[in-house]
Amino acid sequence: MAGRQPKTLRCGGKSQLIERFSLVALLSIGEWVCGDVKSTWSGGSAKISHQLKVSTMAAFQLLFLLLVGCTAASARPPRHLPPCQVVQMDVFCSDLSLRSAPLNLPQGVQMLDLSRNQVQNLTQETLAYHTGLHHLNLHSNKIHFIQPGLFKDMTDLRVLDLSRNHLNVFAHSKVNIGPLTAVESLDLSSNGLYTGMSDFFLAESPSLTNLSLNSNSITKIAQNTFSGSMSLRKISLHNNVILEIEDGAFDSLDHLAELDLSKNSITCITDFNLYNLEVLNLSKNSMELFHSAQSSSDFYKLVSLDLSENKMLYFPLLPGNNVLEYLDVSRNHLQSVNVTGSPEKQANLIFNQLRYLDMSYNHLESIPECFFYCMGSLEVLNVSNNCISSFSVSNEGLLQRVKIINLSNNALKSLTFGDNTLQSLEQLFLQGNDLTTLDHQIFQRLPSITHLQLQQNNVKICKQNQHELTDTTHQASPDCVSFSSVQNLQYLYLSENNLRTLPANAFMDTPLKLLDVSLNPGLDMNKDSLSGLEHSLVQLILRENNISSLNTDLSSLTNLKHVDLSTNQLTTLPTWNKESSIESLNLQNNNLVTLEYSTMIALEHSLKTLYMGSNPLSCCSNLGFLHMVQHSAVVVPDIETVTCVYEEYSEPVNIGKVTKEMCQGPDIPNYVIVVVVTLLVVMIVLGLLVKCCHLRKRKHNRSFSA
Ligand SMILES: *[C@@H]1O[C@H](CO)[C@@H](O)[C@H](O)[C@H]1NC(C)=O
Ligand SMILES: *[C@@H]1O[C@H](CO)[C@@H](O)[C@H](O)[C@H]1NC(C)=O
Ligand SMILES: *[C@@H]1O[C@H](CO)[C@@H](O)[C@H](O)[C@H]1NC(C)=O
Ligand SMILES: *[C@@H]1O[C@H](CO)[C@@H](O)[C@H](O)[C@H]1NC(C)=O
Ligand SMILES: *[C@@H]1O[C@H](CO)[C@@H](O)[C@H](O)[C@H]1NC(C)=O
Ligand SMILES: *[C@@H]1O[C@H](CO)[C@@H](O)[C@H](O)[C@H]1NC(C)=O
Repeated sequence: MAGRQPKTLRCGGKSQLIERFSLVALLSIGEWVCGDVKSTWSGGSAKISHQLKVSTMAAFQLLFLLLVGCTAASARPPRHLPPCQVVQMDVFCSDLSLRSAPLNLPQGVQMLDLSRNQVQNLTQETLAYHTGLHHLNLHSNKIHFIQPGLFKDMTDLRVLDLSRNHLNVFAHSKVNIGPLTAVESLDLSSNGLYTGMSDFFLAESPSLTNLSLNSNSITKIAQNTFSGSMSLRKISLHNNVILEIEDGAFDSLDHLAELDLSKNSITCITDFNLYNLEVLNLSKNSMELFHSAQSSSDFYKLVSLDLSENKMLYFPLLPGNNVLEYLDVSRNHLQSVNVTGSPEKQANLIFNQLRYLDMSYNHLESIPECFFYCMGSLEVLNVSNNCISSFSVSNEGLLQRVKIINLSNNALKSLTFGDNTLQSLEQLFLQGNDLTTLDHQIFQRLPSITHLQLQQNNVKICKQNQHELTDTTHQASPDCVSFSSVQNLQYLYLSENNLRTLPANAFMDTPLKLLDVSLNPGLDMNKDSLSGLEHSLVQLILRENNISSLNTDLSSLTNLKHVDLSTNQLTTLPTWNKESSIESLNLQNNNLVTLEYSTMIALEHSLKTLYMGSNPLSCCSNLGFLHMVQHSAVVVPDIETVTCVYEEYSEPVNIGKVTKEMCQGPDIPNYVIVVVVTLLVVMIVLGLLVKCCHLRKRKHNRSFSA
């Protein structure tokens, strides 16, 4: 495609990379010096030169240290190496700084792991003359030379991993490595190989079935690239720079079943003719068009086609008798489901075996019903993150097997399902749309629906008159949707819908396990809104609803285990009795001052997790709660933010620091004792004084009388 730049060519491999890194290090030291000079420019020339000197000296010191460090490292005596691990005939020598296999290995080694070592020159000597290997792993070494013919006599060698080496250096010498007599699986990934270089490794590899050339720099697949490896079943070319595939490059590979061309630069395939291919991955290219060679008699075996993250403008085209099961066209530029730009050239889309179709993250504005005419096997349909404003399935023959439809994050205003359509649908994702009016019995018509995500819409819930449950003709306002009697619905998400009310019996005869009505500020819950859910509801989410008092009795919901009441205005706890089975309760960010002791006791036997932070709790009126936090198994994950206030002063204290004694008010009795003792002393003293005076008086009197 014009204007496309090939990615940077990785010619150098590791050693050049390291050189480049040290150059970068030097450069950045230089910049650092200059930066310092600039920043002190205004400080006068003397200061500049001084700064410059200091900085330059620092830089030189750093450099010197670096150099010394490097020479020291290379001159360091070999550390004592732990021996390889030998498990029966398998030898593991990974990451031991080896240049070759140790000489003292047992005879008859079958598996040799020499990965992450320092092997540079791969010869018979390097492998300690072991020729009976079945499996040889040399990944992450520094191999830049392979002795030609090395593998010729290794007639048992099936798996050879040469990934992450410097085989581009070897390829430069234009020498062939010779026959890979028995090798079935060869990994040449991350070797800096570019176009044509693989020829020196593959020329004589008659047994090769699995080949990885991932993460190299190949730009073109030539016609003869694989002519020496005719048994190939699986080729991975992920993460190269492939722009061109020559005619016939893969045609002669009769056994080729899997081809991974993801993360390349391919722009278009107009004559796809790999009839035997089963799996094709073209994800992350620049594909605009995918058309197979159109001759109706041909039979393709393609089962999986990944075209995600491309620039597809049109829906891919395969002949009608295909067996495709998996098709991913997500993250492309589809504006319609047409296969070409011209309407008169529209072919019939026939995908009778298709089970998974992902068209999410495109620019689709609509999907005509006829698109699904020949997709009778479809089970998963993902059309989320498009601009679809209306979706309808009216013909009962359509999408009979579909289990999951993901329509989230579109612009849906209208959604209609005809009678007896979508009988297998289990999960419907509608979040992030503009749904306001829906046929109020729409979900009752889906007999298999278990999951329904309707958050971020504008739906209203119908009032349900208990005496008219079965009478659907007497429904209230037409712009509401009913959630009662949805046979199998278990998970219902209704957050962010601007819900004003949750009417009585709204979910009657619907076996809900989870109900999320969070983020509907001002939600008015009828006291009977949850009736009918007594034995089914397990999780209730009422977060951020600005509820100041809950007038719905939660204690009748006998299976309720998880309740989120966070970020409301609650001043009292909902009441629960001993029959409750609440396991996790979130009360964060409310207005709770006192927690009802009897409720806390009732909760204690089942409660495992309690969130309680950001409430204006009173310390001394919640000693029961305190006891619970300190003595039961209840975990309070947000304990750091759980504070309470004493009545005397208002600074909140962390609940962990409060003790019972603090609240029994130890100061007051002391004071009383002091007062009482003082009073007693005073009284005794006074008494004594009085007695004393009395005695004196009598004495005095006596003297008078005398
Ligand atoms: C590799 O080793 C062989 C034999 O030990 C030697 O002849 C050859 O020159 C070496 N090649 C390189 C590139 O080091
Ligand atoms: C070849 O690839 C297939 C599919 O990934 C895998 O099942 C098989 O084990 C591989 N064979 C070898 C010899 O690595
Ligand atoms: C295709 O390749 C991409 C990128 O490597 C990968 O993420 C994706 O899972 C592959 N697709 C399939 C269907 O395996
Ligand atoms: C599309 O939806 C399906 C099923 O819901 C899911 O498995 C898939 O990951 C989604 N695709 C993307 C690109 O997220
Ligand atoms: C629906 O599709 C979106 C992306 O297209 C994905 O992120 C989301 O996980 C899907 N939903 C489900 C439940 O698979
Ligand atoms: C929340 O409720 C209070 C009264 O309890 C009210 O003043 C406030 O406006 C409400 N906020 C919202 C967002 O509804």
